[in-house]
Amino acid sequence: MKVIVTNDYHEMSKVAAEIVSHVVLDNPNAVLGLATGSSPIGLYNNLIEMYEAGLLSFANVSTVNLDEYVGLDRDHPQSYAYFMRNVLFDHIDIDLGNTHIPCGSADNLEQQCRQYNELLASLKQDIQVLGIGSNGHIGFNEPGTPFDSVTHIVQLADSTIKDNSRLFNSIDEVPTKAITMGISNIINARKIIVIANGTNKADAVYKMVQGEISENCPASVLQKHPDVVLVCDTLAAAKLKM
Ligand code: GLP
Repeated sequence: MKVIVTNDYHEMSKVAAEIVSHVVLDNPNAVLGLATGSSPIGLYNNLIEMYEAGLLSFANVSTVNLDEYVGLDRDHPQSYAYFMRNVLFDHIDIDLGNTHIPCGSADNLEQQCRQYNELLASLKQDIQVLGIGSNGHIGFNEPGTPFDSVTHIVQLADSTIKDNSRLFNSIDEVPTKAITMGISNIINARKIIVIANGTNKADAVYKMVQGEISENCPASVLQKHPDVVLVCDTLAAAKLKM
């Protein structure tokens, strides 16, 4: 895994945006796998700036998102569908019809998982953007998730509910379940970029890059992928042995 350590969130976001933008410049029809959370917001801001400066177009790009909370419809302000429109899609020239996020409010969630797997089979990610949970999760694949998993419904770990409660009015409002791409759907991407910043990611980053490859740390599966780049700040890199 290639590791790029940057000074701070600002620089991390710029470097990450350079990498993602090159994928789109090389292939205007690229499929981007996208992530939510605080980590990629700066990356998305940089992509918006490049679009506004006329350097980049998303007119023919398709996107597939990693995950969504179960029980929140796409217009709920805490849903990942809403988040993506808010932080990226509403500010660039992408066709919303080409953006895909699992539907967490579907009546039949098992069917929704099957349909998302079919979609992913036809839209292989040219690059997948990932954040990492403080417990090493990728998407919402919590520790213990099999590496060969496909899109599925997950019971969120207590630590994830606690981490994500900062974005809700109270911890009781955080959904306890989510629908997520499985680990094999993620690893299927041609290229993967992981973004991590802050001290609370240092343990997970160490286990991902230099720890044992184990389902106890879902992100450690990335050691097996031939084209992964981690872009992190010095705080998240603090435990890496360089
Ligand atoms: C959530 C998302 C993940 C994300 C992680 C880290 O649980 N499902 O895809 O990577 O949190 O989020 P943050 O970037 O806010 O630290």
